[in-house]
Amino acid sequence: MYKVVLFDAYGTLLDVDSAAANLAGSGTYPALSDVWPELSALWRSRQLNYSWLRSLSGSYKPFWEITEDALDFAMDSLGLDNKDMRADLLSLYRKLDAYSEVPAMLDALDKAGLPAAVLSNGNHDMLADAFAAAGLSSRLAGLLSVEDVGIFKPAPQVYELGCKYFDAQPSEILFVSSNGWDAAAAGLFGFHTIWANRSGAPVERLPNAPDHIASDLSYVATHLNTLTG
Ligand code: LAC
Repeated sequence: MYKVVLFDAYGTLLDVDSAAANLAGSGTYPALSDVWPELSALWRSRQLNYSWLRSLSGSYKPFWEITEDALDFAMDSLGLDNKDMRADLLSLYRKLDAYSEVPAMLDALDKAGLPAAVLSNGNHDMLADAFAAAGLSSRLAGLLSVEDVGIFKPAPQVYELGCKYFDAQPSEILFVSSNGWDAAAAGLFGFHTIWANRSGAPVERLPNAPDHIASDLSYVATHLNTLTG
């Protein structure tokens, strides 16, 4: 039996595309209507690249600031020079939509007596804002942040935070991420893993294939017996 189910935040519980999609959908900035998917993808890829590069070069700074830097790069790449648009996108990133299956899945875990918590690159402030806005804070037993170790995933110190917080061995933790590289590193650390492969991407060629591959998070609820049996 697991002691806790740990979830990645951005891209797993929270839809990182919802900031650009919702702003484009509001019609406030016609320039966004066609390019928002490209903007969102570039924003996300630079955000992750900067997190890895800063970890390697020993130049950690909070994920929120990296998110701002990545948006600046993405907007610059697409010739979007608009301070109001930038401010609106960042404000929406503080209150991203949760994926629709998340509340029912957390209810199922609660019913099964399994605590759910978050283990994320996000710094404490941005995690607190996002999960309060999504109405999920009270359902989560913790919002664990890499801010406490000053390095980003996939550094093992990050996954160790989960063991320390829940006084658990790695094998007593089920870890769920939509980022294949995150699931791989968590598995290498010793967690049991589920990769939520929403886009049907190929398996990452990294050490440690995921223990389970799901198309979305409803898998966690429907496979609870198998997972905990
Ligand atoms: C996180 C990033 C990796 O929430 O999505 O940790």
